[in-house]
Amino acid sequence: MAESVRILLSEEEVDKRIKELGEAISRDYAGETVHLVCVLKGGVFFMCELAKRITVPVTMDFMSASSYGSSTKSSGVVKIVKDLDEPLKDRHVLIVEDIVDSGRTLSYLIKMLGDRDPASIKLCTLLDKPERRVTDVKVDYTGFEIPDEFVVGYGLDYDQRYRNLPYIGVVEFN
Ligand code: IMP
Ligand code: MG
Repeated sequence: MAESVRILLSEEEVDKRIKELGEAISRDYAGETVHLVCVLKGGVFFMCELAKRITVPVTMDFMSASSYGSSTKSSGVVKIVKDLDEPLKDRHVLIVEDIVDSGRTLSYLIKMLGDRDPASIKLCTLLDKPERRVTDVKVDYTGFEIPDEFVVGYGLDYDQRYRNLPYIGVVEFN
């Protein structure tokens, strides 16, 4: 079956929105250092672009979580594949994710990281599919709310492909 990718959010739209998010975060964390926690691999493109737009001091750490299940659905059982290198105690943690879908991964991660005694913990996601939510998750910064379609690009994959697209697209099977 042939696949093609239809552009949902162009590179210019995504870049513009990330700049706005960076400005909002810089205002909200004025006088503080923000500790960005990237959820690999999907969050990495977004986090790099966002970090460049933040004007308060930034530190970064990375973790990798996988939810057991097929490539297009999360099961709710989250496995920590790579934990953070540094403790979170007394830091202002901002989790940076590519997408909140069912919310299962994030509700698990927020609870787990919140138990490590950070000064604060917030969530920033590039994309949100609110229609798909099964678990309550408080999202503090959202790039775009999108409809219930499977998207790729800007870090998001379909079977590990398309992460490098500089825009957000929908995979179509022709
Ligand atoms: P959740 O636990 O259902 O919120 O799923 C979160 C994870 O599922 C995301 O971090 C992505 O890795 C993956 N995911 C959910 N929706 C999409 C999508 O439309 N495209 C690519 N990956 C997705
Ligand atoms: Mg992810």
